[in-house]
Amino acid sequence: MKITFIGSGQVGGALADRLERLGHRVTLAARDPNSSSVRESLARNPRLLVQAPAAAVAEADLVFLATPYAANEQVLTELKDALRGKVLVDCTNPVGPGLSHGLKSVQSGSEVVQALVPEARVVKAFSIYGYENFADPNYPGYSVRPALLFCGADEVAKAQVGALIDTLGFEPIDVGGLEQALHLEHLTLLWVRMIRAGQRSPHLVWAALQRS
Ligand SMILES: NC(=O)c1ccc[n+]([C@@H]2O[C@H](COP(=O)([O-])OP(=O)(O)OC[C@H]3O[C@@H](n4cnc5c(N)ncnc54)[C@H](OP(=O)(O)O)[C@@H]3O)[C@@H](O)[C@H]2O)c1
Repeated sequence: MKITFIGSGQVGGALADRLERLGHRVTLAARDPNSSSVRESLARNPRLLVQAPAAAVAEADLVFLATPYAANEQVLTELKDALRGKVLVDCTNPVGPGLSHGLKSVQSGSEVVQALVPEARVVKAFSIYGYENFADPNYPGYSVRPALLFCGADEVAKAQVGALIDTLGFEPIDVGGLEQALHLEHLTLLWVRMIRAGQRSPHLVWAALQRS
């Protein structure tokens, strides 16, 4: 699959590296090919490709959005045409003062993303844990995989993203439509408060146990 990353920092860099190693053709959509995040991603994996944003998005089968939430409006407005019809995996989280929800819990960041690019097929995924877990999802000693919760309106897009989640070593859990994104963003805030602001290890993840 041809996969393009808008944003190749902690989250984008980790996922781009792993997806390339799984055999995908991965391109970094770089506004500045010499930026530190692009250079660090290439140092980690020199087989990643680098291209100008509009061209990188236009040729992709699937696009990851892994930018600071505050950059989304500008980034998506510029790429609106190129994103038409594309699966857009929204990894971003709006975070406000004191680790509150950045949109005051009125609307999810992913719904804002969808409104900015109405013809893209937005799936919120790879948002609920720290990047450390996207780089390495192995938890030796457990018989279950880390659960990766995701949501979106487009079932075909979600099937593609679910398959990627699976090959990356997580248990894909489809939690429903994009209206569920607000709840995923609160789950993220819980994790961030526990780990980034608390004392727990960044390698803490959730697992889903289900009885029939
Ligand atoms: N860090 C985590 O553990 C984590 C986990 C889950 C979700 N998230 C969410 O994922 C998103 C990315 O987080 P991150 O930690 O990976 O951020 P990061 O390390 O700061 O990387 C941000 C990336 O976005 C690019 N960027 C910044 N402003 C831009 C703009 N105006 N136009 C185009 N590209 C721009 C940066 O490129 P340059 O190098 O050119 O500045 C960089 O490649 C955030 O929304 C965050 O909330 C983070």
